[in-house]
Amino acid sequence: MLFQIPNVLTQDALTQIRHGLEQAQFIDGKLTAGWHAKSVKANEQLATNDAIGKTVKTTVRDALLHHPLFQAAVRPRAIHSLLVSRYSSGMSYGRHVDNAMMNGQRTDVSLTLFLGESTEYDGGELVIESADREQSYKLEAGSTIVYPSTTLHRVEPVTRGDRLVVVGWVHSWVRDASQREILFDLETAQRSLFAREGKTAEFDLIAKSQANLLRRWME
Ligand code: NI
Repeated sequence: MLFQIPNVLTQDALTQIRHGLEQAQFIDGKLTAGWHAKSVKANEQLATNDAIGKTVKTTVRDALLHHPLFQAAVRPRAIHSLLVSRYSSGMSYGRHVDNAMMNGQRTDVSLTLFLGESTEYDGGELVIESADREQSYKLEAGSTIVYPSTTLHRVEPVTRGDRLVVVGWVHSWVRDASQREILFDLETAQRSLFAREGKTAEFDLIAKSQANLLRRWME
């Protein structure tokens, strides 16, 4: 399941992060690409020992972990390998699939959180392929796109300005995207049934099925 979460970061957090990144040191993004992705990756990333990097990681991780939609749809066991990426004019990241494992953790779900407004740069769309089409995304500052790590995707060349994003990966309690979607649908149905009619016998049966599927699928 692919979805967007608007305003993951508050305006204050965004301003603080962007200010901190102005003086930060960026290095070649190829350093964190898999061997075949290296050939198509042309961007920069925040140096790992930069102090602002720690603030960004903590802020983004906390905001996502406390977000109810993210919780229900992704079921995060760990949000890991967070990285600030910058694409200046001429930079892009060609078609690739993300590594299955990063820093000893499985990658089930990928995320991109946009730090800059879409008007600050041209190009730089995240394009995600599915079996019959591709779709491009360019979100407003503070918003996040969340998608299965199993997809082929790319970042179109930036032709003006800087594209500044945080990327990261999630090791989910439920590795299979279609199973996560079933659990999410049941959770959504459960909540709206509860809001409309309270804790009915039907509600109890959906709650029971959802809990038992989670028990069966989580790992
Ligand atoms: Ni990728």
